[in-house]
Amino acid sequence: MFGDKEALKEAKKLTNGYDSDLTEMIIHMENIIDSLKDDSIRKSVMVDFGLVNQAEYYSSLIFKGYIEGTGEAVLSGGRYDDLFSDFGEGHPATGFALNVDLITAGILSSEDKSPSRADSSNGKLRIALTKGRLENSFVKMMEDAGYDCNNIREKGRKLLLTVPGTDMEVFLAKAPDVITYVEHGVCDIGIVGKDTISEHGGTYYEILDLGIGKCKFALAAPKGCDFYGEMGRKRIATKYPAVAADFFEKKGMDVDIIKIEGSVELAPLLSLADGIVDIVETGTTLKENGLEVIEYIKDVSARFIVNVTAMKMKKTKIDELAGRLKQQCLKI
Ligand code: PRP
Repeated sequence: MFGDKEALKEAKKLTNGYDSDLTEMIIHMENIIDSLKDDSIRKSVMVDFGLVNQAEYYSSLIFKGYIEGTGEAVLSGGRYDDLFSDFGEGHPATGFALNVDLITAGILSSEDKSPSRADSSNGKLRIALTKGRLENSFVKMMEDAGYDCNNIREKGRKLLLTVPGTDMEVFLAKAPDVITYVEHGVCDIGIVGKDTISEHGGTYYEILDLGIGKCKFALAAPKGCDFYGEMGRKRIATKYPAVAADFFEKKGMDVDIIKIEGSVELAPLLSLADGIVDIVETGTTLKENGLEVIEYIKDVSARFIVNVTAMKMKKTKIDELAGRLKQQCLKI
């Protein structure tokens, strides 16, 4: 839930009659926006209910500032009314920090019109698409949504591909790199599986489940073995050590996790591991290698992720693309 004052109206509808404290806070935010006299400033303020800050001392509103030409917030701050009382007498307070290096880079790039590191797209909407598994189904989805994707289908060795009739540009990358490109703001949008998102985390908005590239995270082991019954510390091979560690931690099981880059199914065959944590789509790879699912962990599908600054600076364009893709998701 974010955007202009409409987001506040939506929030008010959800809290009205349920939580008067929250409704009061929303009205307070409306008043703050209304009190801004300068029209251009008021129009550049966005409300973002997804904004969180790790610092625990904030006691009320937090805010961030963005400028074109940078991939991340250049200003960050908020209200911390209780902080002073930790040092004696309490005082209401608001503060913020400015990232001078980022601001300088943003201003320089807008002055000499040369694209900075974080905005080499010259105002275009740039999309990083995960190579392989998701590529074809996403291209089909785009075509069904009315976009001409011939340049992507017939890409040859070309890396940056235009979408005729739009100001969009698409490039293909490995899944973890898609996240890196989005986080650094060199592309605005990433199309990447929830498996990679779960493993790598990061700072961006995950705004749409595209419903394509569906598979599951699973724990698998050699067919017929009593995985949980057998004694001894288990060795688990996986491309997803963070996901595997989280899964076994929740079970209270101590395991050794071995990071493998691909063809994980080999690890139990060669006795490197007792089991694997991997994504399973059709189950063919497991079956053909004498393995079976011991337990499904969670569902995976492709997500539409957006750089935090782009979501503010290119919101209209991003909303249009996301809206058209969402229509296609509803048909799946
Ligand atoms: C994935 C996954 C499994 C396989 C599962 O590997 O790691 O090996 O697909 O698919 P299935 O259930 O339909 O058989 P991927 O093809 O991405 O290659 P990799 O193992 O080399 O990373």
